[in-house]
Amino acid sequence: MTMITNWTDEMTSVFRKTVFTFSHDLAATGLFTDEALIALIKKHPSELTDVCTMGPVDDTRYPNKLRTGDFTGCSAEELFETAKTGKVWINLRKAMNVHPEYSLALDQMYGDIAKNTGKKPFNANGGILITSPVARTPYHFDKTETILWHIRGPKKIFFYPVEEKFISDESYENAVTNMLEDDLPYDPSFDDDAIAIDLQEGQAVSWPLSAPHRVDNHGFCVSVTTEFSSRESGLKNAAMIANATLRNKFGATPSWTKQSSVNRLSKSLLGVALQKTKLAVNTKHTDYVTFKVDPKVDGAIIDVEPFERNF
Ligand SMILES: [Fe+2]
Repeated sequence: MTMITNWTDEMTSVFRKTVFTFSHDLAATGLFTDEALIALIKKHPSELTDVCTMGPVDDTRYPNKLRTGDFTGCSAEELFETAKTGKVWINLRKAMNVHPEYSLALDQMYGDIAKNTGKKPFNANGGILITSPVARTPYHFDKTETILWHIRGPKKIFFYPVEEKFISDESYENAVTNMLEDDLPYDPSFDDDAIAIDLQEGQAVSWPLSAPHRVDNHGFCVSVTTEFSSRESGLKNAAMIANATLRNKFGATPSWTKQSSVNRLSKSLLGVALQKTKLAVNTKHTDYVTFKVDPKVDGAIIDVEPFERNF
């Protein structure tokens, strides 16, 4: 079965270099209907399930920051309904890898990309996003090569240039060392330089490595997000860890943006070496739960005293 329906040679030449969309037929698998998704939530491991809501929209630098929720005690039906009508966002991490019927689809998706681009097969991970009508994904970037395969609902996605103004070296380093997860400081004036796409059902979007982006839902949505590590992403992340260590532990002011490619490569090697020592900046990160999903209350969200995630 072919999953990608309209790939062109032009797309091969701009793959991972520019923002572009292509069409796919994931809906035809029947794996993304309400019934299929409820059955999936039921069997998906809880440690690979994230249920989130958005933080305050009026936070000027980090609006809509995602908060982690406690969904223990909720049935799959209740969780799905809360996402469909409420304020929560369900991320079934690695759902496209863990379950055979979904991994078959993932193999076809990346098999098509490999076949179309003439590249070797990709070792991709895929998660499923089930998001509420009011969900917003805050301004962030991804540390690996990502594609969003949109399946159901109205969604708008904004992409920004990979330039110091939109993603500074320091904020990249912070994210890669996990001090700030993937979120980046945002300013509404950035939108003047954004590429905005109203994603249609059955449309996927691909973009350049580490391009900042954010997403606004305009209704209940279902999408698949896939990612794989490339040589380029591996080198960049290792170099950023080296720069973060030099900046935080040795008071240096390194810059990825201004470095030559030879310097970037040596930084990558330093980063790989540092990660094997105690010198590298701490990359440990604690996931704090700040709310509980309770379908019985209005809005289905109850704030709780923050505690370390244990489910
Ligand atoms: Fe992303």
